[in-house]
Amino acid sequence: MSSTDVTDVLQRAYQDEFETVMNYQTNAIVLDGVRAEEIKESLQTDIQEELGHAEMLGQRLKQLDAQPPGSAEFVARQDSLQPPEDSTNVISVIEGVLDAEEDAIATYRDLIDAAEDNDDPVTEDIAVTILADEEAHRTEFRGFRKEYRTD
Ligand SMILES: [Fe+2]
Ligand SMILES: [Fe+2]
Repeated sequence: MSSTDVTDVLQRAYQDEFETVMNYQTNAIVLDGVRAEEIKESLQTDIQEELGHAEMLGQRLKQLDAQPPGSAEFVARQDSLQPPEDSTNVISVIEGVLDAEEDAIATYRDLIDAAEDNDDPVTEDIAVTILADEEAHRTEFRGFRKEYRTD
C-alpha cells in the first residue's frame, strides 16, 4: 500500500461523517412520538461527536499535505438511514443507525490497517480513538433495538 491509501480512507471517512450528521439530524427532527424522544436525544448527542470526528480527519488530512473533500465529490451511501415515511417508525431509524455505525466501524478498521501498512502511527491513533466512539454508538443503539423488539 502507498501513502495515498491513507489519505483515500481519511477522505472517505470524512464524507461518511457528514452524511451521518445529515441523516442523524434529519431523523432527529422527523421522528414523532413519546417513545422517539430518547432516540432523538441520543442522535443529537452523537451528531456532535460525528462532527468532532470529521474535524479530526480533516486536520489529519491537512497534516499529510492533502485536503478534506468539498461537497462536489460527495457520494451518498446511507440508503437505510433515509427518514421513514411513517414518522413514528422508530425501529427503521434504529436499524439505519446500526448500519451506519457498522459501516463506520469497518472504515476505521480499514484506516487502522492502512496506517499500519504505511507506518503512520498518528493516523492510526486517531482511527483507534474514533473507532472506540463508533463502537459505543453501536452498543447504545443495539440497546434501543433490544427494547423495541421486546415490546
Ligand atoms: Fe463518527
Ligand atoms: Fe457514530
